[in-house]
Amino acid sequence: MAAAATASAILLCALLFAGTQAQAKRTEVTVGGGSVFFDVQFCVEALGSDDRSADAGMNYGAYSAIAADLLTANATTTAAKIDALLLRRGNDATARCLRSCQGLYGGVVRRQPGCAAAVRGRRNGEGTSCLERAVSAAMECEDGFGKSKLASPVTMENEDAFKLAKLAVALLTMAH
Ligand SMILES: *[C@@H]1O[C@H](CO)[C@@H](O)[C@H](O)[C@H]1NC(C)=O
Repeated sequence: MAAAATASAILLCALLFAGTQAQAKRTEVTVGGGSVFFDVQFCVEALGSDDRSADAGMNYGAYSAIAADLLTANATTTAAKIDALLLRRGNDATARCLRSCQGLYGGVVRRQPGCAAAVRGRRNGEGTSCLERAVSAAMECEDGFGKSKLASPVTMENEDAFKLAKLAVALLTMAH
């Protein structure tokens, strides 16, 4: 059962979002037509889905570790979905893109235990760089279909992985 989003998770997500928006304005680091990488609702729903957020208070580091673990679970499920899709496909262009995604998500799943450990240990540089590799993997997977003008069967999964990794990075940046 998913825990209800706690008041502190909602407040923390609102502060985080305001902070990342201000930062984006200062540094012009924006994506997708000027928006930031995720919204408050995504943050609240993701963090609220984990029972541990009930005890995380206003601890950005603890929430970053939760987001990293959510990414691990997400990427693992996505890798399994890609495997299942490939079992049912011949050797068409979509299958070739999926095989590339299989390699990309395989890498994410392999790196995630170490990545989550770095986040928990507040090794921010290491944590951020491996989370950003997950961001790149999700983007590269999705781009593969786009470049071949094919419908991606894993758009939602790529978006979730992208946003969870970006959320974990933003939370880690706020953790001192
Ligand atoms: C992946 O993460 C998103 C965002 O937190 C969530 O809505 C979705 O249920 C997750 N999917 C899986 C399979 O864990």
